[in-house]
Amino acid sequence: MAQNKQKLLEIGPGFWNIRGSFRLMGLDIGTQVSLIRRKNGRFLFLDSFSLDGDVLEQVHALTDGGKAVEAVVNLHPFHTVHVEQMQMLFPKATHYGTARHLSKFPHLKWAATVSEDLEASGLFKEDLAFSVPAGVDFISGNENVHFSSVLAYHPASGTIHVDDTLTYTALPNQLPLVGGKGVLALHPTLAVALEKRESAAAEFREWLENLCAEWEGARNLCAAHNGVIRDELGLPGRIRSTLTLAMPVLTAHRFRHG
Ligand SMILES: [Fe+2]
Repeated sequence: MAQNKQKLLEIGPGFWNIRGSFRLMGLDIGTQVSLIRRKNGRFLFLDSFSLDGDVLEQVHALTDGGKAVEAVVNLHPFHTVHVEQMQMLFPKATHYGTARHLSKFPHLKWAATVSEDLEASGLFKEDLAFSVPAGVDFISGNENVHFSSVLAYHPASGTIHVDDTLTYTALPNQLPLVGGKGVLALHPTLAVALEKRESAAAEFREWLENLCAEWEGARNLCAAHNGVIRDELGLPGRIRSTLTLAMPVLTAHRFRHG
């Protein structure tokens, strides 16, 4: 297999983020997986990627040749390209998928609990919190609407792992008005992802506000597309402020379905 461009970043204690390539219409918008060392000393991946080369060697060095990887949790229903390869790389791990992963790959071996039920199940709660956005379709009927996903938070390192729900675009230089060195925003498909009823926009807003309150210790954010925010005091406030940019979409939705 041709080697993908990939690199491993140590984000904080027990949390590594691996950046990989993902091309959409010729543009490399990037993708990610995270590796977490659990309190029980074993390891867990968030998402799947065809790890190879130096990065696979580094992962093997951390995880006793992969034997210490106990689980792989796929968090985005439409991120499916690397799922089969991940099961080949870590055949002894328990692989969790969303309902869409299970129906798209019925020949693979899946845990009984789907990823969207992990928060309610309490699985991995010693190390991670999970959250599914309210008021939006989790698996849209439109395959181009990638808004929703299961978000994960690792309190020990203060790190949020998020696929498409929040996007982060790093910029080379600081810009006036933007603040920081990049743009954090809700995925542009929010308007289409909102459920077609009046209260959906308010439910979504309340979900994000609660998330920022519950995950108030967050200071790192790893976004699939397309970058990482590190060591930022006030990160929960910055996440909350994505609602301000989205306010026209949320208001228009409420009027359209009122
Ligand atoms: Fe995506």
